[in-house]
Amino acid sequence: MNVSRLRNDFPTIRNNEGVYLDSACQSLRPDRVIGAITDYYENYPSCGGRSVYGMSAKVSLMIDDTREKAAEFFSTDDPECYIFTKNCTEGINTVARGFGLRNGDIIVTTDTEHNSNHVPWTVLSEEIGIRRVYSRSHNNGEFDIENFKMAVKKGVKLVSVHHSSNVTGCIVPIKEAAEIAHDVGAKIMIDGSQAAPHMKLDLKKTDADFYTMSVHKMLGPSGMGILYGKRECLESIKPLTAGGGAVGLATYEHTDLAPIPDKFEAGLQNYSGIAGTKAALEYLSSVGMEEIRDHDRRLMRYIFKRVSGIEGLSTVGPEDPDRRCGVFSFNIDGLSPHDIAMILDKMDSVMIRSGMHCAHPFFASKGIEGSARASVYLYNNEDDIDRFANALGKTAEMFGRSVL
Ligand SMILES: Cc1ncc(COP(=O)(O)O)c(C=O)c1O
Repeated sequence: MNVSRLRNDFPTIRNNEGVYLDSACQSLRPDRVIGAITDYYENYPSCGGRSVYGMSAKVSLMIDDTREKAAEFFSTDDPECYIFTKNCTEGINTVARGFGLRNGDIIVTTDTEHNSNHVPWTVLSEEIGIRRVYSRSHNNGEFDIENFKMAVKKGVKLVSVHHSSNVTGCIVPIKEAAEIAHDVGAKIMIDGSQAAPHMKLDLKKTDADFYTMSVHKMLGPSGMGILYGKRECLESIKPLTAGGGAVGLATYEHTDLAPIPDKFEAGLQNYSGIAGTKAALEYLSSVGMEEIRDHDRRLMRYIFKRVSGIEGLSTVGPEDPDRRCGVFSFNIDGLSPHDIAMILDKMDSVMIRSGMHCAHPFFASKGIEGSARASVYLYNNEDDIDRFANALGKTAEMFGRSVL
């Protein structure tokens, strides 16, 4: 993996002096993705799956190709099991709403979920009385498999857990989690928003019933996500949205829903986004997901090394950089995370995130108000980390902390 060369594929890096360390929120996009979006608007900006003229057929073919690419990318063999959504949140809501949960049904999550895998269940608790059970994590936020086993008991209908946390970066062993869920007859959904951009996934081996993703964190366009499901699981749930394109036949009295994937994709779709998704998956394949994972791990180790001398710095999550997936959340004693992020941006155009990262229950349970967060991806290099660490060191010194 040649990072110096691939940095040149990203216009934001070519045109901007800043250091982008917020890829856990949204990634930058390479020329190839931007080109695919522009190509759609310039050369075939029509609808897919409806009209018979050549320009529209080209859109339909592009959609089919994107699903095929997704199936290959995630090591499965059924392209129809990939549903295009507007983000990961929509994928989670599709399953939460479509699963047919009833009053008293038990669902299990962890206590470290993003709000997108927390709030849909809270709303369903209030609306229909589903019961929430939390698998409690270790003190440092790491997944506790023994606690998970205790939470996932007979009678649980659905387990919904993140693959990797956007706060601690910790990775959940999802194959084991799927086995535990299946042993008690429950289905399992994995929120792969943070993991899918960083690691090679074999969704067949993983055996998750549903897996949701944020394509916009994987070099793809804003407004794109993917919901993967096993065929029988997708066939058994109801779509979130009903309307044109998602039906077989509609009469005045009755509607037959279309088969998957169409039943989930009512109305005209984000065609430029689907074209950009294909380009993003092709780009990631050409670099290699194993190489990306190794690179991210190296950078994470380097961050830990570079910031270790800053007085008062504490990390949120495990101290071992190898147990993190591209995310470094931290605080400096006595400084507000928002102040740190603002100063880094003003001082040296270093862009990091600050706040509660949509994981409010986690922070509240730890009694901390939030954290600053630097997150890395394939286009970051050691120079980026040096600039981040130097700016952070200067900020700490400005507030009277020592830096070794
Ligand atoms: C772990 C996790 N789950 C879900 C989401 C929501 O993703 P999206 O914005 O694609 O809906 C995020 C976004 O940051 C996330 O980090």
